[in-house]
Amino acid sequence: MNVGIDLISFYTPQYFLGLNVLAQERGVDPDKFTIGIGQEKMAIPPPDEDIVTMAASAAHPILEKVGRENIELLLFATESGIDQSKAAAMFLHGLLKLPARCRAVELKQACYGATAGLHLAAAAVAARPGIKALIVGSDIARYDLRSPGEPTQGAGAVAMLVTVNPRVLALDPETGLYAEDVMDFWRPNYRDEALVDGKYSMRIYLAALEECWKQYAALTGRKFHDIARYCYHLPFTRMAEKAHIRLAKFAALKELTGEELETEIGDSLRYNRITGNTYSASLYEGLTSLLDHAAEDLSGQRIGLFSYGSGCMGEYFSGVAQPDYRQHLFTTAHRAMLDGRTALTYRQYEDIFQLGFPTDGGDHAFAQYRTGPYRLAGVSQHKRLYERIA
Ligand code: COA
Repeated sequence: MNVGIDLISFYTPQYFLGLNVLAQERGVDPDKFTIGIGQEKMAIPPPDEDIVTMAASAAHPILEKVGRENIELLLFATESGIDQSKAAAMFLHGLLKLPARCRAVELKQACYGATAGLHLAAAAVAARPGIKALIVGSDIARYDLRSPGEPTQGAGAVAMLVTVNPRVLALDPETGLYAEDVMDFWRPNYRDEALVDGKYSMRIYLAALEECWKQYAALTGRKFHDIARYCYHLPFTRMAEKAHIRLAKFAALKELTGEELETEIGDSLRYNRITGNTYSASLYEGLTSLLDHAAEDLSGQRIGLFSYGSGCMGEYFSGVAQPDYRQHLFTTAHRAMLDGRTALTYRQYEDIFQLGFPTDGGDHAFAQYRTGPYRLAGVSQHKRLYERIA
């Protein structure tokens, strides 16, 4: 029995800042951002958007297509939590009008959370093949202004429906795992911006990749060339290039040509390059980007996925693209959403960044910006108020 991703949908806010604008403001050569880090634009959520509205907007097309029946598991992965007690999954459950018979919970392990969710969901669905699971990764990557992490900010969400006999990607059962207690990236409860030892996090990411691959290869007997396309966790696209070059050397003693690098990972980077880091969603944004862009039909081909969450947790796993998977993608909607975005000026970006969230317990209605079908209408007596607008 196959288990895996039946449908996958991606959402990013309707506003972005061009990294050429940021480079000019910071007095940095724009090539550092576009070539050195590999990013062009970073998505900026307006004040009436948060992880819940992004998650709901990502999940909306899936529910429009298949309905809500038998969704018995809702897992919400995020490291941009809005409440220390109530799971973002509960807000999402309400907004999406999911069945009352549903296990809904929030998961956290930095950018790795959605991968934990995907494997937990696959196990639940394999045990009870009649049920479906909805997994969402939704995050806002936010660093201090003028810090090295600033150009790697971004925002977005990916929703995945996990079922038996999936139409998009059947998961292989074997995975390589690596857990270690390290301080490469963290965000204490009293801070809105993450703290990061960037160079250290890149080193740990690569070390975890080698360890996870080693286990994966031993368990499956597969070699580097048994995998047709590779997806990586994407804090910025240059990281995936470094990772893939490293893996080719480690796993196959191979120096990749530029053309091989482009064929094996190029399509998976296209969305991230123009949204920035989406943390828990980023690996799956990469998978969506690959499936939406691949010129070749990948049906029957194996896709390798490396998930990394600082702190740190790594996992190497794979899946096989299913026959006719292209008929079940949301490619046209993704392209329209990305093409319709509005560019912000530097001033607008900094104004949104500095806005802050009301904490006085009063009643605050939020101005309406461009969002997906759901928005954060305001906050009243410390309670977030969401609404559906389309
Ligand atoms: N033209 C082209 N490339 C340039 C350049 C220019 N004018 N100026 C610098 N670069 C290159 C550098 O050589 C470097 O490339 P390399 O890594 O291949 O050597 C790259 O751009 C980044 O420059 P660097 O000076 O190392 O950047 P930084 O100190 O500003 O930090 C990060 C970069 C990624 C570490 C930082 O943005 C960060 O901390 N990001 C968040 C953390 C993160 O994403 N961690 C990843 C693991 S999850």
